[in-house]
Amino acid sequence: MNTMATSEQLSVEHLLGIKELSAADIELIFRTADGFKEVLNRPIKKVPSLRDITIANLFFESSTRTRVSFELAEKRLSADVVNFSSSGSSVSKGETLVDTVNNILAMKVDMVVMRHPDPGAAVFLSRHVDARIVNAGDGTHEHPTQALLDAYSIREKLGRVKGVKVLIVGDILHSRVALSNIFCLQKLGAEVMLCGPQTLMPRYIDTLGVRVEPDLDKALKWCDVANMLRIQLERQGGDGVANFPSLREYAMRYGLDLDRYHRLGKEIVIMHPGPINRGVEVTSQVADHANSIILDQVENGVAIRMAVLYLLAARIPRTAV
Ligand code: CP
Repeated sequence: MNTMATSEQLSVEHLLGIKELSAADIELIFRTADGFKEVLNRPIKKVPSLRDITIANLFFESSTRTRVSFELAEKRLSADVVNFSSSGSSVSKGETLVDTVNNILAMKVDMVVMRHPDPGAAVFLSRHVDARIVNAGDGTHEHPTQALLDAYSIREKLGRVKGVKVLIVGDILHSRVALSNIFCLQKLGAEVMLCGPQTLMPRYIDTLGVRVEPDLDKALKWCDVANMLRIQLERQGGDGVANFPSLREYAMRYGLDLDRYHRLGKEIVIMHPGPINRGVEVTSQVADHANSIILDQVENGVAIRMAVLYLLAARIPRTAV
């Protein structure tokens, strides 16, 4: 894990979404992440793999986990890193996305990691700038590295993804995590069920090939893993809870507390992509339960992002020096 030499390659030049990846791509990312997890447990958690690569992290929307995780992954790979956030930049003076990125690329940047509020922003960028693009979340569309780290964490906890019954609960309508998870889990042979208020289900739900169960207790009885999505208060519009009567009612019908968990009479794995609204999607007792892998998801995010960056960088044409 210390050279750019890799015999296997991804089928894509950018990571724009899970939809474009094959199952073989995902398995390659997982095997590469296994190697990087071993690196991250060494006393010196750093390899020189991306020593001659410069990566710009462009965040046009808030982030804690993804932003820190990408920056750590890049630094663990010895890449040069430049961080950009839209607040305090020339975006506030009306500069376009393509102009902003092309100005950054003029400073010899090889890869761009971008979070943006608009669905399709990463695809748009990949067609207009000369750099490898990694989608770190584009509006309500896709969040591919989150889905990869989620599936990787299930594989780590249960030893497989194929055949595992995964329940995704909550705000499916606004969730890029849900869409990327559905694509990723299905490509790996898992079964997927969705549960949440009817008002938070997308209209195209029938096209996704998933089961829908409105009753959380029945859905929990079916699953091996429950991924409790964050209610995206910032995307509900109106008074913030326009799609359901109140957060209290949401928590009663779709939240997971210890009583509901114990009533199941079986063990299930609990996941949450973060940030958690504690007491809404899950109570603190559930978030911190022995069967919760929420912090393992965060830990695995670094190895998964190292793998993605490493494999995409291997596809950058090099000139001999
Ligand atoms: N899970 C996730 O994307 O978290 P952040 O918004 O903090 O990056």
